[in-house]
Formats: sequence, C-alpha cells, structure tokens
Amino acid sequence: MAILIGDTAPDFAAETTDGPIRFHDYIDGHWAVLFSHPKNYTPVCTTELGYTARLKPEFDKRGVRVLGLSVDELERHAGWARDIEETQGTAVNFPIIADPRGEIARKYDMIHPNADDSLTVRSVFVIGPDKKVKLKIEYPASTGRNFDEVLRVIDSLQLTARHQVATPVNWKQGEDVIISTSVSDEAAKARFPGGWKTLKPYLRVVAQPQA
Ligand code: BEZ
Repeated sequence: MAILIGDTAPDFAAETTDGPIRFHDYIDGHWAVLFSHPKNYTPVCTTELGYTARLKPEFDKRGVRVLGLSVDELERHAGWARDIEETQGTAVNFPIIADPRGEIARKYDMIHPNADDSLTVRSVFVIGPDKKVKLKIEYPASTGRNFDEVLRVIDSLQLTARHQVATPVNWKQGEDVIISTSVSDEAAKARFPGGWKTLKPYLRVVAQPQA
C-alpha cells in the first residue's frame, strides 16, 4: 500500500556509509529527509548529492537529519563519494543507505516498475519528529531535484507546526502567511495582536509569526 502524507514512516534497519542504523532511532525526535537515488556513479545523482552536502549547514540549522538511499552495495558508495567530492567540491557529509536488494526502496514505493523495475525514481520524504510523513515528492530519474525547494517546504512545515497558519503560493521565509480557516476572528485577535488583512473571510493575510 502506498505511503501517504500523515502515515507513520515505515521503520527499517540498514547499512549506511556511517554504519548501521535503525531509522526510527536515527530520527530520534528530529525532522528527517529520506531521499532516493536511482544508482551510484550516475551523473544527475552525483550533482544532487554534492549540492545536498553543501546545504548540510542549512538542514542542521533547522534540526533536520538527512539520509540518502541507493540500491547499490555499501562497498560501491565509498568510491562514488570520492568522485562527488572531486567533481562537486563538497564531501558527502550525511549517511547513504546501501539497499542492494531494494527492500527499503520497495517499502517506500521508490521503485516504479513501469518506469524501471530495479532502479528507484527520485523520491523525497520529509518526516516529522512524530515520525509521520509530512511531504512526499517524486521526480523521474532524468530530472535532478530542487533541494532549495525541499528546504523551503521544511520552513513552511516547521512554521505551520508551531502556528495556526498556512503558507501561500511561492512563499519564502519572512514573507506574509495566511491565518488557518479553523481560527475564528475572535481567536485570531489573541494570536495575532498586530492585526491582519482580510481579503475574503477565508483569506486573511498576516505577517509571518516569529519562531
Ligand atoms: C543520473 O543520475 O544521471 C541518472 C540515473 C538513472 C537514470 C537516468 C539518469
């Protein structure tokens, strides 16, 4: 059965480039990003892993643990990691799961047999500290993902987890947000004492709440 937003992320044990892990223990009350790569020693994946390594301080700032997955043997990860550092200018600084039999990939529906019956598509799962899936994105193997977008969504998820707001189209950190429709005007007065702009009764725009 497909994993949907709101489901508990399936637990698993895995060998990684940083040693064995159990996924739920690895999350340990943090946010997590689990993302798949179709195969080692492939060009698009090489650029994605290098870029994600460069973004690691941004993930750390947000308390997010990053974890890659490739349906390759652990022994093949080390040589590829050297290529990534050489060509992308950043060493891989987060664990990559070795899933040579595709067991974890299948658990997470990362293999789409009508696209390819053994390689994964480019899946991204953002998982909350409660171990629930908060975001699921899938790209085809030939299209590199936008990890700035993954960070942007994490900013939205972390904000909306703390405040009763939603974020509008193309929202970025610091921009105005929308008061959730579940919040009455009466309750909004207490929550947003600085006021808001009502464009429609269901569309109330407010400055982004701080932390
Ligand atoms: C790549 O990473 O470049 C790639 C991997 C699998 C299929 C197509 C492209």
